[in-house]
Amino acid sequence: MTQNPNVPLIHTVSVVTLSVDDLSVQYQSQGKKIHAVDHISFSFSEGESLGIAGESGCGKSTLGLAVMKTLQENASVSGKILFDDISILETSDSEFTKDIRWKQVSMIFQGAMNSLDPVFTIKKQFMEILQKHNFQGDHVQTIESAISSVGLSHSVLDKYPHEISGGMKQRVVIAMALILKPKMVIADEPTTALDVLVQAQIMILLKKLKKDGLSIILISHDLGIISEIAEKVGIMYAGQIVEFGNMEEIYKNPKHPYTVALLDSIPKLQETKKITPLKGNPPSLVNPPSGCRFYDRCPQAMEKCKQDPPKIKTASGFVMCWLHE
Ligand SMILES: Nc1ncnc2c1ncn2[C@@H]1O[C@H](COP(=O)(O)OP(=O)(O)O)[C@@H](O)[C@H]1O
Ligand SMILES: [Mg+2]
Repeated sequence: MTQNPNVPLIHTVSVVTLSVDDLSVQYQSQGKKIHAVDHISFSFSEGESLGIAGESGCGKSTLGLAVMKTLQENASVSGKILFDDISILETSDSEFTKDIRWKQVSMIFQGAMNSLDPVFTIKKQFMEILQKHNFQGDHVQTIESAISSVGLSHSVLDKYPHEISGGMKQRVVIAMALILKPKMVIADEPTTALDVLVQAQIMILLKKLKKDGLSIILISHDLGIISEIAEKVGIMYAGQIVEFGNMEEIYKNPKHPYTVALLDSIPKLQETKKITPLKGNPPSLVNPPSGCRFYDRCPQAMEKCKQDPPKIKTASGFVMCWLHE
């Protein structure tokens, strides 16, 4: 990439906008190509929270890892990701590590709470993060303030991971993601594997952080959880975003039959309507069908859905469905 030496690639601007343009990620595995993220485009900006919902295996984590430039070696990426005016995929790894990852955008990785190192205290693990990033301020004070910001007492710092509960571990990994004060955090299934009460407490924490000015991308298979916090939502199915728009509108008036099915599969407080689990399985991501990927499971499928999936713009987003032409 050619770059004017007088124009720094990294700017400090207060408005956070993430825009993803025609992003694709493929994994090479056992001689096959897995199209985990397939031509995805969307954008959202300051003060908003975005939810990414969809069944397991639809590419949600891959999308988050692509934004964080932390995909595994067997992945290849194309398209564009703009964070403010930083072109993430064009920024070198060293520059991204030095100036952007954890400092501007960070991620609470799926299952991270179970990857805390069992042989070190929580404090030691925080110290390592700060040392790795060559942090110049007061280490202990910074760690204590991070741990307080997630509602934990400082005594947690002297404990080993096995000495604290699942909910506390999740708070610890949230504090780790926030320690270098990023503007945006990608939270990948942060409540999965926690019991319902603890889930609710983590959601209260995320809402508080959002109120304090953090932009959150919440990835979850549970659209109910996403609806608690996100203004915008992207519904993912088999590597694509099939519906994108305002959370409230989509919740009240889902357009894509897959979104309808996802909503029908979660319990709603005020309604007595029966929960209908979605039957069948998503298509293979090795050879995804050329037409609508939901065709096989869609109760409203038409003949033309088999060949070509449309992308229809709506007032506030888009829906990939011929029913809304
Ligand atoms: N490192 C990898 N190598 C090969 N395939 C992968 C890798 N990571 C994920 N996948 C595959 O990519 C698809 C999307 O996975 P993922 O992004 O983890 O989905 P989700 O987070 O929605 O469950 C799945 O088919 C998964 O098996
Ligand atoms: Mg995942």
